[in-house]
Amino acid sequence: MANSQPIGIFDSGIGGTTIFREIHQLLPLEKTIYLADSKNAPYGRKSKEEIIQLSYKNTEQLLKMNCKIIVVACNTATTNAIKELRKKYKIPFIGIEPAIKPAALQSSKKKIGVLATKGTLSSELFSNTSSKLTTDIDLIEVVGKGLVEKIEAGKANDESTFLLLKEILSPLLAQDIDYLVLGCTHYPYLIPQLKRILPADVKIIDSGKAVALQTKTVLKNNNNLATTPQGNPVFYSNKNPRILKRFIRGKDFKISYLDF
Ligand code: DGL
Repeated sequence: MANSQPIGIFDSGIGGTTIFREIHQLLPLEKTIYLADSKNAPYGRKSKEEIIQLSYKNTEQLLKMNCKIIVVACNTATTNAIKELRKKYKIPFIGIEPAIKPAALQSSKKKIGVLATKGTLSSELFSNTSSKLTTDIDLIEVVGKGLVEKIEAGKANDESTFLLLKEILSPLLAQDIDYLVLGCTHYPYLIPQLKRILPADVKIIDSGKAVALQTKTVLKNNNNLATTPQGNPVFYSNKNPRILKRFIRGKDFKISYLDF
């Protein structure tokens, strides 16, 4: 691998742009290629096998584009497919999982909530890690049913999304949690709405920064960090590049349609 090669990032749609932003901020010299598989969103309601096949497809595309590392910027794809990806391909993969550990360590009420997709919450990887980390903690899990669809449709700030979110969060509101873990890369786009619903003392955390740091560590250890600017990030959507554009607005980045 040459250090001038790009970093590949994929998600079921626009959610992974929250991870892209962290990576771009931490590693501004790197060129990044982002794939939004919006045509197949949401992954969260698909079977493990379907998620694995879609993850293979996205990986093959990024390999064709000569990437040196792949960031699976999707909790659902990570928790269901990263083991298979690592088995099948030689390239390093960085995954993302709900930030249960920091929440569990910092929670003084010992009650935390996690909002994620059905695919993530029902995965073996999630249940193994979360059960180890929450022996002295109450973990209340809620499925964000319908939320990814709203965000993909560009409706994160709509009143209908607020009402749906309020209903989804009701089991959490009934408990006295002090941390809410966002276990889906789409959900940081709901933070303004979440803040309207949750009591002011509930802290919201996600894994974006940790993923960017881990990407840097792996590239550094492999001697693969770019040392000179490699060019602007590029983005591809296989459904609606205009929606993707709204989430990375204000920047002179190339955003195009690609059938992958
Ligand atoms: N961004 C994906 C995640 O982190 C969304 C999954 C979906 O498409 O349902 O889980």
